[in-house]
Amino acid sequence: MEVAGGAGADVHVPYILVHSDREIRRLSHQADIINPITRRILLSAGMSPGMRVLDVGCGAGDVTFLVSEMVGSEGQVIGADRAPAALAAAERRAAAHPIQNVSFREGDPAALSFDRPFDAV
Ligand SMILES: C[S@@+](CC[C@H](N)C(=O)[O-])C[C@H]1O[C@@H](n2cnc3c(N)ncnc32)[C@H](O)[C@@H]1O
Repeated sequence: MEVAGGAGADVHVPYILVHSDREIRRLSHQADIINPITRRILLSAGMSPGMRVLDVGCGAGDVTFLVSEMVGSEGQVIGADRAPAALAAAERRAAAHPIQNVSFREGDPAALSFDRPFDAV
């Protein structure tokens, strides 16, 4: 089992709730409930149309899709998660809607490379 280490350690704590269908539904339900709060936080943090955003630990993409709406067609959001099951759910949801400005990457963003910098993470 991997455990959290001190500052600078190679930390990989598994997602304790596991990405079952049930957990993905729970996250989605939770996201619906707190959507107005999340939106307000993102707005006050400066989220605005045209931004390029990285959503770290995107899970099934609830916040990714909210950000996608906020940055609009001129913006872009990349959701990154190291859990393949969560990303598969996010990809399925993206495919079910005509969303052009969203893409997903598997992995820890600290270990991934990106072609351009982000306006917000
Ligand atoms: C509670 S879920 C949140 C999902 C989503 N942001 C939401 O609001 O519904 C946390 C997610 O972060 C991911 N995660 C945690 N640490 C990570 C890391 N270092 N790199 C990539 N993903 C990570 C987990 O796999 C999990 O899917």
